[in-house]
Amino acid sequence: MAEAEVRQDVQDEKGTPEGVQDGTREESAGGPAEDKPVKQRKNGLYPAVSDELAAVMKSGWADTERHGLEPIPQAAYVASRRAALSARFPGERIVVPAGTLRTRANDTEYPFRAGTEYVHLTGDQTQDAVLVMEPLAEGGHAATAYLLPRSNRENGEFWLDGQGELWVGRRNSLAEGEQLLGMPCVDVRTVGDVLREATGPVRVVRGYDAGVEAALQDKVTAERDAELKTYLAELRLIKDEFEVAQLEQACESTARGFEDVVRVLDRAEATSERYIEGTFFLRARVEGNDVGYGSICASGPHATTLHWVRNDGPVRPGDLLLLDAGVETNELYTADVTRTLPVDGTFTPLQRKIYDAVYDAQQAGIEAVKPGAAYRDFHEAAQRVLAERLVEWGLVEGPVERVLELALQRRWTLHGTGHMLGLDVHDCAQARTETYVGCTLEPGMVLTVEPGLYFQADDLTVPEEYRGIGVRIEDDILVTESGNRNLSAGLPRRSDEIEAWMAGLRG
Ligand code: GLY
Ligand code: MN
Ligand code: MN
Repeated sequence: MAEAEVRQDVQDEKGTPEGVQDGTREESAGGPAEDKPVKQRKNGLYPAVSDELAAVMKSGWADTERHGLEPIPQAAYVASRRAALSARFPGERIVVPAGTLRTRANDTEYPFRAGTEYVHLTGDQTQDAVLVMEPLAEGGHAATAYLLPRSNRENGEFWLDGQGELWVGRRNSLAEGEQLLGMPCVDVRTVGDVLREATGPVRVVRGYDAGVEAALQDKVTAERDAELKTYLAELRLIKDEFEVAQLEQACESTARGFEDVVRVLDRAEATSERYIEGTFFLRARVEGNDVGYGSICASGPHATTLHWVRNDGPVRPGDLLLLDAGVETNELYTADVTRTLPVDGTFTPLQRKIYDAVYDAQQAGIEAVKPGAAYRDFHEAAQRVLAERLVEWGLVEGPVERVLELALQRRWTLHGTGHMLGLDVHDCAQARTETYVGCTLEPGMVLTVEPGLYFQADDLTVPEEYRGIGVRIEDDILVTESGNRNLSAGLPRRSDEIEAWMAGLRG
């Protein structure tokens, strides 16, 4: 009866056991699953597991092991990224966790998204996993993926543990993982001991796995770990073929999501910005993994709030809708696209004037994206156009050079004109200044070009009719050998093209 008593209340009706979230973590960096503490679950409907039931549950299950699996399509690309990492940190152990579940409430968790660095180096997205690059005496590193294996049926884990496969779904076996990832796969519940016992220099990517960090706490320094994170951000600055294809796919799905929104604008008018958010999200989930960031569905004056993600306002004819949204592919690459649309399909003369100024600024910015250009060029080109228009409209006193020197246009342009894009919407954020905003553009970089003009509803320095108008246009631009390619060109940008496109979709 002992085993059944230990497990009493571990599982009940639809609801995972208490203590599973922290229990899972202790498995990763601590001992095996059998050792993890089991907390009593309050209010479970089954007080205990009988010996007879425990015995019955152990057997009668088919062998579902898969054999002869092909490697994941990006296997060769991720291997060459690991080779670059190995060359940068010779003789050092490199630890890259995928991250752990985060509790939303009690035994429910937020959706899991694997850490960007882990995904970039493995192509895998398994929760709790850890990539360890072990330095070899002869030089180079041996990479091992430490993964949560299939659930144990002998000890009942598969149906009594909250992360058991019966509750959360089948995982790859370690043998399957090896075939898919092209590297040895080992039970992650041993990684804590492996790391604690390891000697020699170690670096870890921080911020994903407290258990792994605790196992390494006496061996790592914040400064050296930050250096690793910076290197991995810089490794993502240039996208390879696989990544460019992913970003193209993300942009294509995103274009379809924008079309979906235009088709249901009448229903959004009858409900709210939430309808737009839900409509785009449906496309993101059907064609990809998720949205790459919280969709900004900003109608009317909400368009002047840069990251309006509450999306709970009305959608009214006569207003503009600023939609900033991106589909994240199943391999976690995201688009980041903005269109500002007249809700009723036609820009008013003032809306068009402001829109066309932003369009001209974006066009100037896109034209400045080419290999050999300074990263800042596209920003400066776009800001110059906007400053010129603001002076011309009498909103700020010229000359334009003075406005630009003092950045006075920024009262209405607010933000930088773009950023790197990739696995993260604001990709490569930890790169050094000289390799990011101070860099020279190179083929394979992908960046957004997204100027905007925002006249706040309470801005007394502009004529009343401008107040509450916000416009941003954002596209995802690949630097090519000869110039650039707009990956989001599937969506129209010019004001007349926007109107024709909307009219066509609305029938
Ligand atoms: N969607 C956030 C941004 O455009 O940077
Ligand atoms: Mn952006
Ligand atoms: Mn955006």
